[in-house]
Order: sequence, then structure tokens, then C-alpha cells
Amino acid sequence: MADTIRRPGEGPASDPRADGVAFDPNLTPIPRRRMLVLMGVTTLAASGGLGAVLAGCSGPPVTVTLDVDLGALEVGVPKEIPFTLVKADGGASIPGSTWLVKKANGDLISYDPRCTHGLCHYLWSEEGARFKCGCHEGQFALDGAVLAGPPPRPLDRWPIRVTGSTVEVDVPGNFQTPKESLPA
Ligand code: FES
Repeated sequence: MADTIRRPGEGPASDPRADGVAFDPNLTPIPRRRMLVLMGVTTLAASGGLGAVLAGCSGPPVTVTLDVDLGALEVGVPKEIPFTLVKADGGASIPGSTWLVKKANGDLISYDPRCTHGLCHYLWSEEGARFKCGCHEGQFALDGAVLAGPPPRPLDRWPIRVTGSTVEVDVPGNFQTPKESLPA
């Protein structure tokens, strides 16, 4: 008697239970729709986009007034300004900081002090004129662009306003103190 030819997905032989094989949920095909969702999440996570999406769900920002002497800032020389973030609900006080960069036209950039790879604290290094993160050797240019290492995106910037001598930045509501970095 001739063998019956079955293509994948046809006939009882394609059902493992029909062959007496114990049912294994790992062998159960993932529905196409669910597979696409899983692929999307995986792609986002791999690209660092998931962090950006989650950052967008951080709640309202908290405005912080910086203690900074604007006249002491030099063009193209980053300066880290510490602050204490007091949660809007009167809860915890969180130590933080921002790196300020004065541009040639006088505008200021405010950088989130956390490396975009693993939220470690990074430092400015005159040698090579770049920010360096000691956790995994990530490096960023003065404009925040990634120069080396695993960071998936440039440094995050915070909205900043200058009114006379008062400087305010909008810190994400879910801000946490950066992780301690190794010496850069
Ligand atoms: S946390 Fe900065 S490079 Fe990994």
C-alpha cells in the first residue's frame, strides 16, 4: 500500500496528540495577531524605543528652579547643576542634577543626567571633549549624540526656560537619582 503523503498542517499526523505525543504548550502555534504584537514589543525593546515610550507615561513633569550663575557659564563647557526634586504630592525629596550646555547663540541645553543605556550617572571629560559613562563605556558628544558604546539613543533633553536670571527646567515626574557610575 502506498504511503500517504501529508504536507505540514494537513491531516491527523500534524497533530502531536494524534501520534500519542504528550501535549506541549510550547509547541502550540502562536496566533498571528499575538505574534505581531510580540515582535513589535521585542523590536521596541531592542531599539531602546520602549524606554522612550515608557518615559512618555511618566506623569506630569515637575518644574525645578536651578541655582546657577548664568554669567559663569562658558560656551561649549558643560556644567552640572545639582538640585533636589520634591514630589508634587509632598512626598520624597530626590537628589538630582542636570548638565547645562551654553550654545554660541546664548541658548541653553539641559540634559538628563542619566545615561540612556542603563540610567547611570555620566561625567564630562575634557579629554576628547565628550560625556563619558563609566558603567559600560558609553560616550556622548556635546550635542548629546552617541559617540561610542551601547547607549541606544542620544542624551535626553529637558525643557528649559530662562527669565532674567531665573533658570527653570521641567524634570520628568518619574525622575530617579542616576545609578552610581564607575570612574569614566
Ligand atoms: S549605563 Fe551608560 S553605557 Fe551602560
